[in-house]
Amino acid sequence: MSLLPQLKDPANKRYEVPLETPQSRSKASSPLYSVQFSADPFGLVILRTSSGHVLLNTTVAPLFYADQFLQLSTSLPSRFISGLGEHLTSLILNVTWTKITMWNRDMSPTHCLYATVYFADVILQPSPALTWRTTGGILDFYVFLGPDPKSVVRQYMDVIGYPFMPPYWALGFHLCRWGYTSTAVTREVVKNMTTAQFPLDVQWNDLDYADAKRDFTFNKDGFWDMPEMVNDFHREGRRYVMIVDAGISSSSPAGSYKPFDEGLKRGVFILNATGQPLIGKVWPGPTAFPDFTNPETHQWWHDMVKDFHEQVPFDGMWIDMNEPSNFVEGSVEGCPNNKLEAPPYVPGVIGGSLRTRTLCASSKQYLSSHYNLHSLYGLTEAIASHDALVKVRGKRPFVISRSTFASHGRYAGHWTGDVLSTWEQLYYTIPAVLLFNIYGVPLVGADVCGFVGDTSEELCVRWTQLGAFYPFMRNHNDRRNLPQEPYVFSEMAQQAMRKALFLRYSLLPYLYTLFHKAHSSGETVARPLYLEFPEDPNTWNVDQQFMWGSGLLITPVLEAGKTEVSGYFPLGMWYNPLTGSIINSKGQWILISAPLDTINIHVRAGHILPLQKPAFTTTESRKNGMSLVVALTPEGIAQGDLFWDDGEDLFTFEKGDYMQILFLARNGMLVNEIVQLNGQVDGLLLKDIMVFGVPSPPHQVLANGIPISDFSYHTDTKILNIPLSLLMGEQFVITWS
Ligand code: GLC
Repeated sequence: MSLLPQLKDPANKRYEVPLETPQSRSKASSPLYSVQFSADPFGLVILRTSSGHVLLNTTVAPLFYADQFLQLSTSLPSRFISGLGEHLTSLILNVTWTKITMWNRDMSPTHCLYATVYFADVILQPSPALTWRTTGGILDFYVFLGPDPKSVVRQYMDVIGYPFMPPYWALGFHLCRWGYTSTAVTREVVKNMTTAQFPLDVQWNDLDYADAKRDFTFNKDGFWDMPEMVNDFHREGRRYVMIVDAGISSSSPAGSYKPFDEGLKRGVFILNATGQPLIGKVWPGPTAFPDFTNPETHQWWHDMVKDFHEQVPFDGMWIDMNEPSNFVEGSVEGCPNNKLEAPPYVPGVIGGSLRTRTLCASSKQYLSSHYNLHSLYGLTEAIASHDALVKVRGKRPFVISRSTFASHGRYAGHWTGDVLSTWEQLYYTIPAVLLFNIYGVPLVGADVCGFVGDTSEELCVRWTQLGAFYPFMRNHNDRRNLPQEPYVFSEMAQQAMRKALFLRYSLLPYLYTLFHKAHSSGETVARPLYLEFPEDPNTWNVDQQFMWGSGLLITPVLEAGKTEVSGYFPLGMWYNPLTGSIINSKGQWILISAPLDTINIHVRAGHILPLQKPAFTTTESRKNGMSLVVALTPEGIAQGDLFWDDGEDLFTFEKGDYMQILFLARNGMLVNEIVQLNGQVDGLLLKDIMVFGVPSPPHQVLANGIPISDFSYHTDTKILNIPLSLLMGEQFVITWS
């Protein structure tokens, strides 16, 4: 349930964010809120009817409504404030005078970042209160009433759109670095991963592959056999992704570089004051910037993607520098002097001016000025790339973008940019990943082991363990640094990393099912504890731990030299599926052992998780036997489910081309209920189940009435292990008594 107050000038049309959102034509029949308008002081008060809590009260300070400066303040019902775009902070923001600027910016994480949700400046104040300041447009508010936090998140996604369904392989391990200077080097990396027995699904290349760093080209020196290399990866069941930057090189001799020549002819570039393509500077030197708010640009982008794909059969696109980033201020010729370039109020952008490290604010785009559209650059490019990949490959697209805007998750994922290889930033990646899940961008992760600066072996081990629980897991490194591929470390470190990677691969069916729920019903994949335990205030600011869905709690080590970690365990039973140890928590902090080869994970009583025997690629692991981890409550109950399809076809859920199974355990019995079955599971076998919390040794175990003699029971851990060989797609009943 949501409410939408809008403040706009009825007489003059003003810029509005060009996002299609659902329109409500009538008032809600039984609203959870009441609204009061006040004339003096002017403002709006919104109350939650059930509690009488004031959710929004804009009478606390005057409203400003000028052409380039809009300001509105409200009191806040709580000091627990989270959200507001991408920033390097804890999950819960400090309300003691914190200013958050939302203006997408190419900036190694220190402050405000690559991704925006909407406005310009938000100032949090201790009373608690909040002030929105924006440099134009209209004020359009959505107030989501929940009432619980999960519903708030879903209601937000009802407006901005549910996340796209990633291909299964996207959840495997990705490896990249700037500095794989040839196909020989890139092939060597893949070979080393294989030799050292690490899983690897997706190999990437950074700018090294491109001819003079220009998009849609490959250099014929080091990368002369790039098409064969990609084909070879495919033959091994792997995928390939390369970087594509936003700026299109504008200085190649006429007739020699199609993306620019063609783009010029078709009028796809952002224009300067004199109506010429605005020229900035990025990696290839002088560049023009495609205007992705222009439909013609989408067509042109598609044609470029198609041309390149006909040469190099890549599987996904890594779209970078799309804030858009520009190494000169505004353009190579500077910017004109006008009210958009020098607005009366400049939000707190680093560098102090809107043009810092980007384009002139007054440059012209198809839909409006760059001033208005700046932070939508990444989103509009992501849409064009998503659509192009769908048409060109005819399969589920994979796009990872640095810049984002509200609704990005419908089209693409995100990585958190140039994080430093430090322990501090290791921690900050958790709030970042959790926030993006709340923003409807569940396919998110940070560069594992850090991007800027040399990592250390211990940091890289701990980062690989945490990264194994980023929904999107990629190790990526800057060209100047020491190498950080898993195989370069000591045998002990490798062992720890291998363990983390195989743990992730075992859990992929569960992770994939969570992605399906995000896609089909607006859920989060990685989520803060407060979404699951909103009634427990101890969970509200936990951001060194997080959950996958509602069934798995992850407690990483985030400090150097530690072999123990303190974690908060909400009320209930928590099972460690690797050691069998049990935590029966009253809702308390508990110190647990965490040697270097261990990341602690706990399954929440009441949940059943589908697992699969890991392999070196998901192409292989998807054929392996499955297991179920059944974590019983003290009452002996648990449930879970599995979503499965071919892993890369378009719209399988929408077409009904998938399998969905529910698992229910109660009274010493586990049954499955087949909700949807389409033949995608031919041959997929359930090979064993592990039941946690079985109070006493069973005498008999039956699968579909047939005795299973080789079950085992551990009296100390109360775990029952049942080896099986049952078809996943057929109904089964397993009993123990
Ligand atoms: C940007 C990206 C980084 C990439 C580099 C070179 O800094 O954030 O990931 O490696 O550009 O393309």
